[in-house]
Amino acid sequence: MTYKFIDLFAGIGGFRLGFEKAGFNCVFSSEIDIHAREMYLANFQEKPDGDIRKINHKNIPNFDVLLAGFPCQPFSIAGEKKGFNDIRGTLFFEIAKIIEYHQPKVIVLENVKHFKNHDNGKTLITVLNTLNNLGYTTSWTLLNAKDFGVPQNRERTIIIGCLEQIQFDFDKLETKPQKKLKDILENEHEKLEYLQEDEYTLIENPKQQLSGLIFAGYRNKNIRKKGTRPNTEHLSRVHKQPNRIYSSEGTHPTLSSQESSGRYYIYHNGKVRKLTLRECYRLMGFPDSFKLIGSSSKLYNRVGNSIVIPMVEEIAQQVKKQLLEKNFDSPTPLFKPRQMSLFDFNLFVS
Ligand SMILES: C[S@@+](CC[C@H](N)C(=O)[O-])C[C@H]1O[C@@H](n2cnc3c(N)ncnc32)[C@H](O)[C@@H]1O
Repeated sequence: MTYKFIDLFAGIGGFRLGFEKAGFNCVFSSEIDIHAREMYLANFQEKPDGDIRKINHKNIPNFDVLLAGFPCQPFSIAGEKKGFNDIRGTLFFEIAKIIEYHQPKVIVLENVKHFKNHDNGKTLITVLNTLNNLGYTTSWTLLNAKDFGVPQNRERTIIIGCLEQIQFDFDKLETKPQKKLKDILENEHEKLEYLQEDEYTLIENPKQQLSGLIFAGYRNKNIRKKGTRPNTEHLSRVHKQPNRIYSSEGTHPTLSSQESSGRYYIYHNGKVRKLTLRECYRLMGFPDSFKLIGSSSKLYNRVGNSIVIPMVEEIAQQVKKQLLEKNFDSPTPLFKPRQMSLFDFNLFVS
């Protein structure tokens, strides 16, 4: 049975790849960024619709699962349980309107690790309240990419809602043995960017942290060593992230959407070099067949914004098993007729 999904805030399609690998079929996508849309077109032969605020919900075909890795914004009167007035004017409001109109069986939302702390926890509570008010049973957790066979320490908040009264059980997700950064590196080639020995300092006896990272040294740039004991520099905040060097025997830190120069340095086979763009995409689980289009700065931003594909694929498999196959008899037909909604009458406007 093939279930249908829509890919909102689609970026370059990380969510889509994971769900497609699990056998789902994408029927609609939306993304505002021109570069991301071009990459999406090159890789999925489909140009996403643009700004979600301009989409007419009636033109979205029916679907079973709504996917959205949406930008985190504060809600004006978050947590005050005033229904849709809590979220009006935000991008999450746009998601809620689509949910309200189409009533998909399942919703999967993704956000940054600190989403749960955003606005003192009110943002998360408001999202959960909204989904509950729309009839969804919700559960949420933090997942780490490194538990799904990708050597990146990347924690993300995942929220899952189900229209039937079933709570998604995150404990049933199957984890994979941990990989090391060296397992995903490219073979030697002439374009690898090595640092000269006088450009970096290695620390003695580097130790693996709980996160799996092994801080191996730092670039000799903008280092404020004053007041720091030798070999404890990495414990203090004297090193900005782009100056840090991590060993290929451990995991890699989170790729960031803010890092457009790709300053990710690794210590591998006795030398220090930059990760290649392809290696960054591998760190998110993208296959080498995935087409990288446009300037490298945009490609670095995009990869840091995306989602880890093997983690998504496992979520998709469990969504199917736990929420779809057991409790709904058939996939939703295209353009299922629906009843009028409160949104149609603007009853939520105060
Ligand atoms: C965290 S990223 C999601 C990335 C995606 N999961 C991927 O695999 O690349 C959020 C995305 O929302 C997009 N976005 C922001 N505002 C939007 C809007 N009004 N309409 C549609 N997309 C929007 C951004 O351009 C960005 O690509």
